Amino acid sequence: MMTNKSVKVAFLASGGGSNFQAILDKINSGELAHIEPVLLLTNNSKCGAVAKAQAAQVPVVHISGLTHGANQDAAMVAALQNAQAEWIVLAGFMKKIPAGVLQHWENRILNIHPALLPAFGGAGMWGHHVHEAVVAAGVRVSGPTVHFVNEVYDAGAIIAQKAVALTAADTPEIVGQKVLAAEHDLYWRALRAVVSGAVQIRQGKVYGDVQT
Ligand code: GRF
Repeated sequence: MMTNKSVKVAFLASGGGSNFQAILDKINSGELAHIEPVLLLTNNSKCGAVAKAQAAQVPVVHISGLTHGANQDAAMVAALQNAQAEWIVLAGFMKKIPAGVLQHWENRILNIHPALLPAFGGAGMWGHHVHEAVVAAGVRVSGPTVHFVNEVYDAGAIIAQKAVALTAADTPEIVGQKVLAAEHDLYWRALRAVVSGAVQIRQGKVYGDVQT
């Protein structure tokens, strides 16, 4: 059951930020009314997600090797703590999450991957590489996976998936478009479910269902 207290969520993004925007839209429309977006943390100050955060008046912090050198990891923890983030949503964040962040926000970090894990995940499986591998394999279904984040790429416990039908004519670009549309419909629902407690993780296993 949701309370009236807002839940502070930080977003981490490096790219266009369409998933970030889709969640902001649901906050604004009232479907995620109890979520307060407290931070957009990026390693790329010129990315689309930054512009979207600025337009929505979400505070932006830029942390990269250029800005913080060897102190990047500590700076990320500090920025997230400053923002009082209770949950972290990875929305196309292209860097590995530092151990300090994983430790402070254990089981409170979500990611979305553009394929049905455990297929088409792991090292090298990002962006167009995922959809190219999907087309090369000839599979007739793909779709996003929302999962908890742990120390292994794309290996955390799965929260929700959404299947998207593919045809033999689909190019990697078309697969990418189909999956991205499904991401926008899935991520906010998964966020709502974990924040409300409808979905919980215990000992690495996820209990409860995301309402789709
Ligand atoms: C999405 O495809 C997501 O699955 C992956 O990164 C991409 C981010 O896209 N993790 P956008 O920046 O949200 O448009």
